[in-house]
Amino acid sequence: MSAVVEMSRHHPVSTPLRAPLRGAQRSRDARGRFLSLVEPARRAAPVLFVVSEMADFLKAGGLGDVAAALPRALRHQCDMRVLIPGYPSVLAGMQFLRHVGTIAGRAGLPDCDLALGRQADGLPVYVLLNAALYERAGSPYVDASGQAWVDNAVRFATLSHAAARIGAGQGDPDWQPSLLHLNDWPTALAAAYVRADNGDVPSVLTIHNLAYQGLFDCTHAPQLGLDGDALDALRFHGQLSFLQAGINCATRINTVSLHYARQITTAADGCGLHALLAQREAEGHLSGIVNGIDESWNPSGDRHLRATFSAQHCAGRAQNAAAVREAFGLQYTTGPLFAVVSRLVHQKGLDLTCAVAPQIIAVGGQLVVIGSGEPAVEAQVRELGHRYPGQVGVWIGFEEALARKMFGGADFLLMPSRFEPCGLSQMYAQRFGCLPLAHATGGLVDTVEDGVTGFLFHEASVDALSGCVQRAMRTFGMPTLMQAMRRAAMLTPAGWDRAGRLYLDLYQQMGVAA
Ligand code: ADP
Ligand code: GLC
Repeated sequence: MSAVVEMSRHHPVSTPLRAPLRGAQRSRDARGRFLSLVEPARRAAPVLFVVSEMADFLKAGGLGDVAAALPRALRHQCDMRVLIPGYPSVLAGMQFLRHVGTIAGRAGLPDCDLALGRQADGLPVYVLLNAALYERAGSPYVDASGQAWVDNAVRFATLSHAAARIGAGQGDPDWQPSLLHLNDWPTALAAAYVRADNGDVPSVLTIHNLAYQGLFDCTHAPQLGLDGDALDALRFHGQLSFLQAGINCATRINTVSLHYARQITTAADGCGLHALLAQREAEGHLSGIVNGIDESWNPSGDRHLRATFSAQHCAGRAQNAAAVREAFGLQYTTGPLFAVVSRLVHQKGLDLTCAVAPQIIAVGGQLVVIGSGEPAVEAQVRELGHRYPGQVGVWIGFEEALARKMFGGADFLLMPSRFEPCGLSQMYAQRFGCLPLAHATGGLVDTVEDGVTGFLFHEASVDALSGCVQRAMRTFGMPTLMQAMRRAAMLTPAGWDRAGRLYLDLYQQMGVAA
């Protein structure tokens, strides 16, 4: 059990556990607020990055990677702090947490404690403590059977409410953000709480995936402690949509690629929210910023690889391919190795991948798959592995070390996503010289240059993917072209610098001085 849980259980929530402040630490800013105690000399704009997963502790997909990377990319310009629920992995992962305040409950939302800790690199992380809501094993969103936790409305309204209270200066008495950076539906309701309480802290809501909206039955409304405009902002076809509330109430909305930003304003891809999104776009309040990938994605220094390599010296990839074949129990061949690194959900088009697998195997190719997700999709992929022992390897679950080995050894990554807000896997693959075969949708359009850094196909259908597989096979048979594409993919700039600058611009447009 971590120190902080002991503290919060053995002290009344109103008891401050922090040592009294010494005079020298208590400098104030121009508005009379106390400056950060964590970094007292720093006057950069304070920004609270609110998120429901972070790769430092746990992740369900790419959101966790972005939450680990983006606040760090902005730390030199802004006083970035993260707010995350106190899941067991967060409590176990923080070296030292100190209690900084309490967040009083509201309607059906319970009281919580707020603690502050730092990651090894100094990144400050606020942890929202409520054992009943957050101290559960497994996924942040679903139980062991894959069903959404029944109290998710309260769990994530509580997180959102805490963000709004911190934004109002009522979380940590020593720190108040000038901006709330919200991410996806689990945090979107913060903007509605700010509106309901006539708060003035601006907010940006980043939509990582419009398909997950945080839809709840209207019977949850009394628990949320919202009424009037703020409650109306939630109402969505007889239900409550946390994401819609955020889209309605946040100062600015952005999503994780340019192409997806356009797509979500159309009926075909707007998940019922396109009209509202088109309206926010017309107001100049919707934009797209393509995600980056962090510096740890570097094949010349990745300790998970059997052989490191670079764009100039790729020979080590053959040893990595052998390591992947061994890990998945595949027979030795010199044919092309295809990989899938993905959540196993409808969005990712695994049914299309399964449909083209026989074509890949018929011409001497092999396939390895890692991921977990919907039971039906997992079963379909598992069955493929059983059908082609020695040619198709399947690992249900997720292990980043194995994913890295796959990117570093496979020739091609299959990514026939039906839609893809940004996608990180294709960028990880490119950086490791594994060429993506991707459906031309969302961020895949922004990050894959057809015939140069990967292959695009224009319809999420078996025929289109099959045609793309044939192109990839032909390229595999032309080593000079293959090598040139590999090099182009590896050298494509995809770090967080560019995205960081664009987020900073966005913050500045909202009046946050950096
Ligand atoms: P998404 O966020 O929709 O899953 P991305 O391509 O943005 O898609 O992110 C994929 C990344 O998420 C992978 O590179 C991998 O790091 C991680 N990932 C994929 N599947 C899983 C999983 N089942 N559990 C945890 N992380 C996963
Ligand atoms: C979502 C999207 C994915 C995106 C990720 C990080 O999970 O599905 O496309 O890359 O968030 O923004």
